[in-house]
Amino acid sequence: MNVLVTGGAGFIGRWVVKQLLDSGHCVWVLDDLSNGRKVNIDEFLNHKNFIEFIEGDIKDVSLLHTLFLNEFDLCYHLGASINVQDSIDDPATTFNNDTIGTFHVLEECKKHNVKIVFMSTCMVYDRALNLEGIKETDPVKPASPYAGAKIAAESMVLSYYTMHMTFLLLLFVHLIRMDHFKKQVVKVEFSQFS
Ligand SMILES: NC(=O)c1ccc[n+]([C@@H]2O[C@H](COP(=O)([O-])OP(=O)(O)OC[C@H]3O[C@@H](n4cnc5c(N)ncnc54)[C@H](O)[C@@H]3O)[C@@H](O)[C@H]2O)c1
Repeated sequence: MNVLVTGGAGFIGRWVVKQLLDSGHCVWVLDDLSNGRKVNIDEFLNHKNFIEFIEGDIKDVSLLHTLFLNEFDLCYHLGASINVQDSIDDPATTFNNDTIGTFHVLEECKKHNVKIVFMSTCMVYDRALNLEGIKETDPVKPASPYAGAKIAAESMVLSYYTMHMTFLLLLFVHLIRMDHFKKQVVKVEFSQFS
């Protein structure tokens, strides 16, 4: 498959890119490097199925128009501002990237009939109140502009699924960062697909 990974030079994105390449897919990465690093994907640049790294912004609509001419089958949309304190200090940046940026990616996916995988966050829920942790049936309670922007984006993704799209996967993940480069404990709290 031809796969676009937004935010592919980030903490999670580089592992998604690696897995896609290991599975034989052709990969494009779009990342503005606002929080990601080129060194995260350097090792893939000469892989025969790594097609292109584009340093650019998911809010750049004309860039997206051109990029989506590549006939993608799937888009892993991970590009987002993820820092909670930054979202409190400067909510506009987080809202523009996480909600408006997602809207632009969704529009292109709709136009080109590209399936999308959207990465949400357990932070859309209240804090875990017991040892069972957070379940998808818990009430949402965004407590920061980051969580609010994510849940807004999530709602847009669901609305496009309802209206237009044949497939989506929503991931609500909680990651425990141990050693940034060596050990990642990844816990997928909830996934929904159809
Ligand atoms: N890390 C976690 O604990 C966690 C938990 C839940 C959900 N998530 C979600 O997973 C996704 C990836 O998170 P991460 O931890 O890898 O964060 P990260 O910051 O390492 O990766 C996000 C990437 O998106 C890029 N980016 C930001 N704004 C962009 C824009 N406007 N255009 C293009 N690229 C842009 C950044 O440069 C970065 O490389 C995010 O959507 C985040 O909300 C992460």
